[in-house]
Amino acid sequence: MKPVEIADGIYWVGVIDWNIRDFHGYSTHLGSTYNAYLIMDEKITLIDTVKSEFTDDFLEKISAIVDPAKIDYVISNHTEMDHSGGLPQTMKRIGEDKPVFCSRMGHKNLSMHFTGKFNYTPVEDRGSLSLGKRSLTFLETRMLHWPDSMFTYVNENGILFSSDAFGQHYASVERFDDQLKEDIMPHAKKYFANILLLYSPLILKLVDRLKAMNLSPAMICPDHGVMFRENLGKIVNAYVEWSLQRPKRKAVIVYDTMWHSTERMAFTIAEAMGHAGVDVRPMHLRKCDRSDIITEVLDAGAVIIGSPTLNNGLFPTVSDFLTYMKGLKPRDKIGAAFGSYGWSGESVDLVNRALEDMKFNVLFPGLKIQYVPDYEGIATCKDFAEKIAQKLPLEA
Ligand code: FEO
Repeated sequence: MKPVEIADGIYWVGVIDWNIRDFHGYSTHLGSTYNAYLIMDEKITLIDTVKSEFTDDFLEKISAIVDPAKIDYVISNHTEMDHSGGLPQTMKRIGEDKPVFCSRMGHKNLSMHFTGKFNYTPVEDRGSLSLGKRSLTFLETRMLHWPDSMFTYVNENGILFSSDAFGQHYASVERFDDQLKEDIMPHAKKYFANILLLYSPLILKLVDRLKAMNLSPAMICPDHGVMFRENLGKIVNAYVEWSLQRPKRKAVIVYDTMWHSTERMAFTIAEAMGHAGVDVRPMHLRKCDRSDIITEVLDAGAVIIGSPTLNNGLFPTVSDFLTYMKGLKPRDKIGAAFGSYGWSGESVDLVNRALEDMKFNVLFPGLKIQYVPDYEGIATCKDFAEKIAQKLPLEA
C-alpha cells in the first residue's frame, strides 16, 4: 500500500501486517498495522518506525515521498518493538547522527533495546519543537502504557499522534474511521481491554488533562489501526466510559470442562441468568481466546468462573485466565465460582481465593457438584444464577 497523505504535507507511512494472529498473547484475528508518520516541513520529521521485519517496506514508502537521508528529525513516541524495532535500520538510511527525540524514559529504554548509540534527544513534558512552518508539542503519557510513552501534537494541524492510545489491531486498506464507522469500535474496545484496562485511572486523568489544555485536535492518529478524523468524540468518550468500568447487567461465564459436567453447570447458569434479563456470555476457555474473553469482561457486572478439579487443583486453562485477568485489574465486579469434581473438589475454593485477591465482590463460597449434575444439582445451579442476577445492576 502506498503512503497516504492525511493532511497537507503529512503522510501515513506505516505498514500492514495482514497475517499476525498472535500479538504477544493477544489474538489479532484480523491482523494489525504499525503506523508511522512523515511530516514534510523545513525540518523533515519521522514519527515512529515499524516492527523490524517490515522496515524495507516502510523505507520504500518513505522513499516514495522523500529520500530518507533527507529526514532531519526522528521522534520516538514509544519504545515497544512494534514501533521501534525498525529504528536501527532506519537510522542507517537517515543518518545515525540525526536527533531522535523521545521522553527521558524513552532515552533510557531505547538505549537498553539497541546497542547503536543514536543521538537521543530527550524532550520535556509539554516541550515544543519547531519544524519550520509547523511546531510540535510533546506530552508525556507515562504508563500509557509504558514508562516511555508520549504523544506528539502538531499545533497548526491539530493532529495528535497518540502512540498506542486509541489504537486497534485491525489490518485493512481503509485508513480512517469514517471509512469503517461503527465496525472499528469492537476492535478499539478489545485493544483497550487487553492493553490499557489496568491504567484506567490514568486514562481518566489524561483525558481531563487534554481537555484542560484546550487542544481541540482535528485528527487522532494512533500507532495501530485506523486514524480518527470524523468522530473524535466517539473514541474519546468510549475511552472514558471503558475507564470508568461501570458494571452492566451482564455476566461472563468463563469455564473449562473435562467430561461436560462443569459445562452443563455453565449452560444452566447461563440460561437461568438469561431468563433473569442478564446479558450472558458463556465462554469455553479452549474455544475462546483469553483476549476475547477479557473484552467481554470489560463491561460485565459479574465474572463467574467454572473449573473442574484436576489433580487437586485448577484446570490449567482456568489458572492461565485468572493470571491474565489479575494483571489487567478489572474493578467493581461480582465474582463467583462453580465446578464439578470427582473426590477432592479444591478448584472452587481456589477460584474464589483468586477472585478475592483481585478484589472482586465474591458472593458465595461457590457451587461444587460431585461428578455429574443431577436434577437437584441443576436446580442448585439455577438458584445460584438467580442469586447473582439479583445482585447485578438493573440496566443492561
Ligand atoms: Fe504498539 Fe506498546 O506497542
